[in-house]
Amino acid sequence: MSSLADGAVLQRIAGEVGTPCFVYSKAAILGRYREYAEALDGCEHTICYAVKANGNLGILRLLAEAGAGFDIVSGGELFRVLKAGGDPAKTVFSGVGKTAEEIGYAIQMGIFGFNSESEAELELIDEVAGRAGAKPRVALRVNPDVDAATHPYISTGLSQHKFGIDIHQAEEVYARAMKLPNLALESVSCHIGSQILEPASIHEAIAKMLALVSRLRGRGLAITHLDLGGGLGVAYKPDEAAPSIKSFIAKMREQTKGLGLHLMIEPGRSIVAESGTLITRVLARKRNGDKEFVILDAGMNDLIRPALYQAFHEIGPVDDSGGRKKMVADIVGPVCESGDFFARDREIPAVEPGELMAIRTVGAYGFVMSSNYNSRPRAAEVLVVGDEFHVVRRRERYEDLILGE
Ligand code: LLP
Repeated sequence: MSSLADGAVLQRIAGEVGTPCFVYSKAAILGRYREYAEALDGCEHTICYAVKANGNLGILRLLAEAGAGFDIVSGGELFRVLKAGGDPAKTVFSGVGKTAEEIGYAIQMGIFGFNSESEAELELIDEVAGRAGAKPRVALRVNPDVDAATHPYISTGLSQHKFGIDIHQAEEVYARAMKLPNLALESVSCHIGSQILEPASIHEAIAKMLALVSRLRGRGLAITHLDLGGGLGVAYKPDEAAPSIKSFIAKMREQTKGLGLHLMIEPGRSIVAESGTLITRVLARKRNGDKEFVILDAGMNDLIRPALYQAFHEIGPVDDSGGRKKMVADIVGPVCESGDFFARDREIPAVEPGELMAIRTVGAYGFVMSSNYNSRPRAAEVLVVGDEFHVVRRRERYEDLILGE
């Protein structure tokens, strides 16, 4: 049952686990990870999988066993990485704001280092490290001011965004940070956005970062690591072409060749997005005036990307043996919000109540962004491994909804 394109596999899973249900393929995830690993072979590097894309323990464990490091943005993500057997020494802590508790926890667990986005936070890390008698690695996340040309909510590299420290100020901030006794300033980082289909913008950012590394070295800082973030996009639409990991990394290696830099990258989406499918059942069809609706048992609480970013996900019946009539419909969930839709005016093969549908490319930023809105228990998650499948997160029960209340 290697392919999730195989309707029989999805039908069997839905029969045993119920719907809605996220299904991931181990082979697909490891395939993408290995593309990165092979492209980086022979050069000093760490692939820090961005846990925020999909933090299921089953997936983190696969990647940890394959040798991945991790990019985290909270104490909770660090907890997950450790539970999954991930190596803290290959884990970087990114994010625009960290609490003293999170910083202390990460230092205690021995993470590789922090990517920090403000001077106030540098001072906080210095203080917490001093109390712990530690000297953690800290990189400034620099904002290289390039336009990643993606959705405005997930573009981060322009100076108008809250992320990073302006590249024109970075040198001065490093110079002041050199006076903080408990920070090891050996690294520089950036991340310009997500779902980037045109990697030229990342290469442009790399060029700017390399110029900065050279200026920092000129000031006597021994910069040994360059963290280039994540962001490579995937094809959500049939006519979209995802950039090749191989050529993207080859170009990155060419740009950084001979500079004595250990390369770090933080891919999330490009490793897990295509591995995942959301199986859901058609509850009903209805017509309001001229408009046809297909109502599913999955809602925006399960997959919020269409509502939040007008994101496109392919949707179709699990059993698409052909010969079906077409229909044009809004494909919606049961949540009490007009924004609860997966597609609008979409042409799909005609479906009937009770049938299973598959929403594709949901392995990244799917389940992790789900909620209990409308007191809907969160979906089950399943990992397909060769001829078997494992429930890697059981469906929530009503009792789970009131835990802690
Ligand atoms: N590193 C940092 C510092 C990040 O902020 C992110 C993503 C990544 C790495 C991983 O980026 P990726 O390789 O996955 O593009 N929820 C949105 C995406 C938000 C991305 C946030 N940062 C979505 O559903 O499209």
